[in-house]
Amino acid sequence: MDIKDFIAGIPKAELHMHIEGSLEPEMMFDLGRRNGIDLPFDSVEAVRRAYRFSDLQSFLDIYYQGANMLITEQDFHDMTWSYLEKCRGQNIRHTEIFFDPQTHTDRGIPFRTVISGIHRALEDADRQHGISSGLIMCFLRHLSEESALETLDSALPYRDMLTAVGLDSSEKGHPPEKFARVFAQARDLGLKTVAHAGEEGPPEYIRNALDVLKVSRIDHGVRCEEDDSLVLRLAEQRIPLTVCPLSNTALKVFGHMREHNLKRLLDRGLCVTVNSDDPAYFGGYLNENLNAVHSALDLQRGDIVQLVKNGFEASFLSGKRIRQFLRQVDEYVAASVGSLIPDG
Ligand code: ADE
Ligand code: ZN
Repeated sequence: MDIKDFIAGIPKAELHMHIEGSLEPEMMFDLGRRNGIDLPFDSVEAVRRAYRFSDLQSFLDIYYQGANMLITEQDFHDMTWSYLEKCRGQNIRHTEIFFDPQTHTDRGIPFRTVISGIHRALEDADRQHGISSGLIMCFLRHLSEESALETLDSALPYRDMLTAVGLDSSEKGHPPEKFARVFAQARDLGLKTVAHAGEEGPPEYIRNALDVLKVSRIDHGVRCEEDDSLVLRLAEQRIPLTVCPLSNTALKVFGHMREHNLKRLLDRGLCVTVNSDDPAYFGGYLNENLNAVHSALDLQRGDIVQLVKNGFEASFLSGKRIRQFLRQVDEYVAASVGSLIPDG
């Protein structure tokens, strides 16, 4: 078995995936036809050609346009279902997905339409394919605190469909503390919290996400490396980072995958996990991300196993479920030993 097959077959968890970022251009055109909306592109290829980003904002501008194709409950279901089929194909056994309700409610789409479509697909995947999941509602940080508070209010009737709240969109100039009160309310509702921090923003945003928003994990977090005492804290407290390598190179957080700090952070004892962020925009799903870091950073097979185990350890599953998944990973590794091709 070569490393690609090993990565493809190992049971995996994904913890950082924006469901709107899984909308492939083919489906954008299908939805456009279905809903009578014109896309400002002639073809699927033309859409893909536009995916050349210089930074986070240049991506977000296109990403929010793509999300405008989503109108009905069925649209949200079909987009989510399509990602879950990918999970099945890549042996992703558990996924905790983000959604951005404000992207849709600001266009007049009811909150209920968005969450019902996504939730129905998650339930179907659990029943039909045994894929477990969590749903994380993200607030858009470029919008106001008031808008985030209203969004949390809209979510109250659907509280039981949610595992956590998160924070995404344009990071620079929108520090975590802007959302201190929203996150406090979410925690009072018993929701877990996560936040994008240290993707483009400074290490201070990571500290404040931990200290003010009291997050359980940091999404991205790669800029922690600029602050030694923060790296020590993340390692000591095993605070997970949900790292997204193909996203980081597409958005020029790192100039080349060879420059990515994932291996250095792993070697310093951080609970680094690998994820796809917005797979339809960044050239790959979870397996492609693992393959990319394996080849660019000279990872050993043991590093891949550690990254995958970290994904389960960092999840919001119960301790019992986490232990079951970790056993499945160990069994997979043991079964593959006899058929390994050494890869250095
Ligand atoms: N929304 C979707 N992808 C994102 C990212 N990588 N950073 C911030 N917000 C996002
Ligand atoms: Zn993200």
